[in-house]
Amino acid sequence: MLATLALLLGLPLALGTEPPSCAPLVPVTLDNSTVPRLLGQWFYIVGASKYPPYLEELKAVTFEAFSFSPGSHEDELNVTEIMRINETCVVRNSSKVLVFQQNSTLMHVEGDKREVSMARLIQSDKDLLILNHINSDFPSLSLSARTPNVSKEHMEEFKAQLHCLGFAEEDVFYTSTEHTCLLPGEKTGEGKADPQLG
Ligand SMILES: *[C@@H]1O[C@H](CO)[C@@H](O)[C@H](O)[C@H]1NC(C)=O
Ligand SMILES: *[C@@H]1O[C@H](CO)[C@@H](O)[C@H](O)[C@H]1NC(C)=O
Ligand SMILES: *[C@@H]1O[C@H](CO)[C@@H](O)[C@H](O)[C@H]1NC(C)=O
Ligand SMILES: *[C@@H]1O[C@H](CO)[C@@H](O)[C@H](O)[C@H]1NC(C)=O
Ligand SMILES: *[C@@H]1O[C@H](CO)[C@@H](O)[C@H](O)[C@H]1NC(C)=O
Ligand SMILES: *[C@@H]1O[C@H](CO)[C@@H](O)[C@H](O)[C@H]1NC(C)=O
Repeated sequence: MLATLALLLGLPLALGTEPPSCAPLVPVTLDNSTVPRLLGQWFYIVGASKYPPYLEELKAVTFEAFSFSPGSHEDELNVTEIMRINETCVVRNSSKVLVFQQNSTLMHVEGDKREVSMARLIQSDKDLLILNHINSDFPSLSLSARTPNVSKEHMEEFKAQLHCLGFAEEDVFYTSTEHTCLLPGEKTGEGKADPQLG
């Protein structure tokens, strides 16, 4: 929060130069505590990418909740996603995340091991999930959280990181709780989506 404040106050003086606090992203070393830390419900909140296929996806997704459950192996997570893509809510439950301790990478695979993406987990608050996708030379960074929104401070910190990676505001895509989809098993009544998920 202090860093953010300094950033804001310093801005008029440092106009046109990099923000003063471009700390490198620190990847988490994956170990046996990684899977338990990731289990459960998350909400994807904001992402940025210069990789055209991701960019397409980021533009189309206006809401996404996902949950990690134990998979068939201890280094494997089953993933259930519910997302709004181009206005329509879609449920996907056939993907997995493989946790590779030897090189501290997470691999998202679809169905029968078709690789979708690879990412490093970035150190942050325990209720945040910051992923740096690494399967291309283009930078990509996403923020998810245990709650559908994050504090202003966490958002500003994340935006500062994006800025440091060279993203402009038009490269950044936000989801919105206005676009909430009902989670599987929440289909009680056909009314308005309840924003108080999980
Ligand atoms: C992690 O779990 C594996 C499998 O259960 C075990 O062999 C290994 O010793 C554990 N590593 C640590 C650092 O606890
Ligand atoms: C995880 O998903 C696979 C299918 O991809 C399924 O066979 C398996 O039963 C699931 N594991 C658990 C614990 O639900
Ligand atoms: C979403 O809509 C855009 C523009 O209409 C289209 O290019 C894109 O393929 C659509 N994406 C999906 C996943 O339907
Ligand atoms: C995914 O959803 C389908 C349809 O609801 C269901 O039949 C299947 O068992 C689910 N698979 C997993 C791994 O949960
Ligand atoms: C990490 O290790 C896995 C398993 O060996 C491998 O498939 C994957 O490509 C590696 N990731 C990176 C970024 O090297
Ligand atoms: C999320 O939004 C709600 C309602 O606007 C607010 O009460 C809550 O404090 C917010 N959560 C965080 C982490 O900022």
